[in-house]
Amino acid sequence: MKQFNTAVIGCGMISKNHFKALKNVENARCVVACDCKPERARQAAETYGIPRVETDYQKVLQDPDIDVVHLCLPHFLHAKVAIEAMEHGKHVLCEKPMALSPDDAEKMIAARDASGKSLGICFQNRYNESSRYMRQLMDSGTLGRVLGARGSVVWNRSPDYYTGSDWRGTLEKEGGSALENQAIHTFDLLQWLTVPIKTVEATCTTKRLKGVIETEDTCDVYMTGPNGERLLFYCSNCYVANAPVELEILCEKGSVRMVGNLVTTERNGQKETRDFSSGTVLGKDYWGSGHGFLIEDYYKKLAAGERFPISGEEAIVSVRLLHAVYASSRTGQVIRLQQWNDSGQMIPERR
Ligand SMILES: NC(=O)c1ccc[n+]([C@@H]2O[C@H](COP(=O)([O-])OP(=O)(O)OC[C@H]3O[C@@H](n4cnc5c(N)ncnc54)[C@H](O)[C@@H]3O)[C@@H](O)[C@H]2O)c1
Repeated sequence: MKQFNTAVIGCGMISKNHFKALKNVENARCVVACDCKPERARQAAETYGIPRVETDYQKVLQDPDIDVVHLCLPHFLHAKVAIEAMEHGKHVLCEKPMALSPDDAEKMIAARDASGKSLGICFQNRYNESSRYMRQLMDSGTLGRVLGARGSVVWNRSPDYYTGSDWRGTLEKEGGSALENQAIHTFDLLQWLTVPIKTVEATCTTKRLKGVIETEDTCDVYMTGPNGERLLFYCSNCYVANAPVELEILCEKGSVRMVGNLVTTERNGQKETRDFSSGTVLGKDYWGSGHGFLIEDYYKKLAAGERFPISGEEAIVSVRLLHAVYASSRTGQVIRLQQWNDSGQMIPERR
C-alpha cells in the first residue's frame, strides 16, 4: 500500500487523538510535530516518538517529503493554512469546523480542485458505530419519511477553559463557542441523518460565561426542512457535567433515539435498544469514538485514490448552517439557506 509522510500542525489538546490514531495507520508515518509554541511541539515529539520538531508551519509546507498535513489549529487558521497547504501540494486533514465562513469554505474547495489534493474534515462522530447504525437505518427507508428531529448537547466548560487560551471565546479566532466548537458534531449529525435544512431561526446567548467570552455559551435553534419537517437543537456549556448527547428522529413509521451510546429504535410498537459503548475511544468519551476510524479511512481512501467521504461539499453544509444560526441570532430574522431558490427548489451542490 502507498505510504504517506505526515505532519501534525498544532500540538494542543486534540492533536493527541491524531498522534495516537496515526500510530495505528498502516500506511502513514508521522514525521513532524509542528507548533508555534516550541515546548508543545517538543513535548508531542517526545511523547509519540516523532523524529522532527518545527515551529514554523511554512517550513513543513515547503518540505517536498511531506505528503499530508493534519491541521489541529485554532478555527480562524483552518481555511488559511489548508489553502496554503494544498497550494504547496499537500493533502489536508483539517479539524472541525471546516472554516468560519461559507466564503472561506468555498475557497478551500476551490484550492482542493485546483491542486487535485485530498481535503478531509474531522467530523469523526459520523464514524461512531451508533451514527453509522442510525445512518443505515435512515437509508433503509424502514422508518418512512422524517417528520421532525431534535438534538441536545448540554456540557460544562469552565471559565478557565477560556481564560487559559488565546483564541477560545473570541469572535475573531473561535467564531462561536457552544455550537461552533462543542455541539457542532451533534448538529452535523442532526442534518446528516435527516433532511436538507431550508430555514434557520436561532438565539445565541452568553449566560454563565458573560464577561468571560465574547461568543455564545448557549444556543437554541429552530429549523425547517423542504416538506415542513421541524428540527430543534439546543446546546449549552453552562451545565455542571458533560451530559450524554441526545438525538431523536421521528418518522412516519417509527423513531430512533440516541442517548450517549444507547440507540433505541421503535417500529410497529416494538422497541429495540443497542449499546454502542465501544473500546476504541481515543480521547474523551463524550467527543465520540471516531477519530481512529476516520483517520484510518482517510489514509485508506488516499492510498486507493478514492474520494474521502467528508470532504468540502459535506462539511460546508455545517459551515453554512452555523453561519445562518449566528446571522439569525444577530438579526432576529429567519434565514433561508442560500441553496434554496425562490421557487423552493434546492440548487444542487457542485461535485
Ligand atoms: N474533533 C473533535 O472532537 C475536536 C475536539 C477538540 C478540538 N477540536 C478542534 O481542534 C482544533 C484545535 O483545538 P485544541 O483544543 O487542540 O486547541 P489548542 O489551543 O489546545 O491547540 C491548538 C494549537 O495550535 C497551536 N498554534 C496556533 N497557531 C499556530 C501556528 N500559526 N502555527 C503552529 N501552531 C499554531 C497552538 O500553539 C496550540 O498548541 C480546533 O479546531 C478545535 O475545534 C476538535
